[in-house]
Amino acid sequence: MSTILGIESTAHTFGIGIVSEGKILVNIKDTYTTEAGGIIPVNAAKHHAEISEKIYCEALNISKITEDKIDAISFSQGPGLSPCLLEGIRFAKKLSKKLNKPLVPVNHCIAHLEIGKITKAKDPLMLYVSGANTQIIAYSTGKYRIFGETLDLGVGNFIDTFAREIGIGFPGGPKIQQLASLGKNYIELPYVVKGMDISLSGILTNLKQKFNSKNYSKEDLCYSMQETVFAMLIETAERALAHTGKKELLLGGGVACNTRLQEMCKKMCDERGVKFFVPPNSLLTDNGAMIAFLGEVMFNKKIFVNKNKIDNLDIKPRQRTDEVNVEWK
Ligand code: ATP
Ligand code: FE2
Repeated sequence: MSTILGIESTAHTFGIGIVSEGKILVNIKDTYTTEAGGIIPVNAAKHHAEISEKIYCEALNISKITEDKIDAISFSQGPGLSPCLLEGIRFAKKLSKKLNKPLVPVNHCIAHLEIGKITKAKDPLMLYVSGANTQIIAYSTGKYRIFGETLDLGVGNFIDTFAREIGIGFPGGPKIQQLASLGKNYIELPYVVKGMDISLSGILTNLKQKFNSKNYSKEDLCYSMQETVFAMLIETAERALAHTGKKELLLGGGVACNTRLQEMCKKMCDERGVKFFVPPNSLLTDNGAMIAFLGEVMFNKKIFVNKNKIDNLDIKPRQRTDEVNVEWK
């Protein structure tokens, strides 16, 4: 039996989770938010530095796990914002030295995918929709292969940028969803699907122009944006399901919290006879539990870095999902 403490710090959220035998004992986090405007990376990193010790102590208290029970510390090595990643690795190295335990460097995107295992999905096609990423992924022969993706912005960043444009702070997703639920009229927007890829930057420009024209309400624009962009995601996911022959769809990443997107996925899956899975919201947006969860799987397969070698470990701000050799499957 192993007990792993996971640290998440790639962007807006500093989180710590503790997992033992696949069970989440604690999952707490603190997220840097703004009233207006987007994330400033150095400010988010400052937030992480200020909050890390407090979150760590709370995680131990809530889980009633003492430091001597922790077998290893896993952390998000990348991809992400460098100043934020640096705070995470600094804290992870500090704990490794203090507790005399190894480190497990984890790819953040793959942690978003692997936590889907708690839904009991066995071999799903994954629709990963988060801030910086939008990808359709399936595991095949040693890697998570990307079948389709955004050609420019991640859907979360797209939504947050539009939110900023209409005066909403970070994160924009939940507030945009609320406004969208009040929209009544569908306004036609560009619909950009290229095979199994999508593109969002033209839609963003079009939305900005429509908002600045003052001819449309915020509610109708948010509603139309969601209906259009989510339909693009559903279309590409459905094409990838047909292509791969997979019988399960797993939704993951922060944008997966959107209940309208969940509803649209469910409908498409029901029509195709495919099972649909989505983890709870606490495991969709960035969190430490998913880092601990994948950390435990890797640690049990002896994938870790011993304390005497950790000085050579560095962050990987641009690491891609399909670069990682999935040696633990
Ligand atoms: P990545 O995983 O690509 O590095 P990230 O870590 O920044 O990105 P997550 O924490 O996984 O992203 O997701 C954050 C995103 O989820 C934000 O863009 C936020 O607006 C979006 N989001 C959260 N809730 C909702 C919602 N209800 N509807 C739409 N988007 C949402
Ligand atoms: Fe994320």
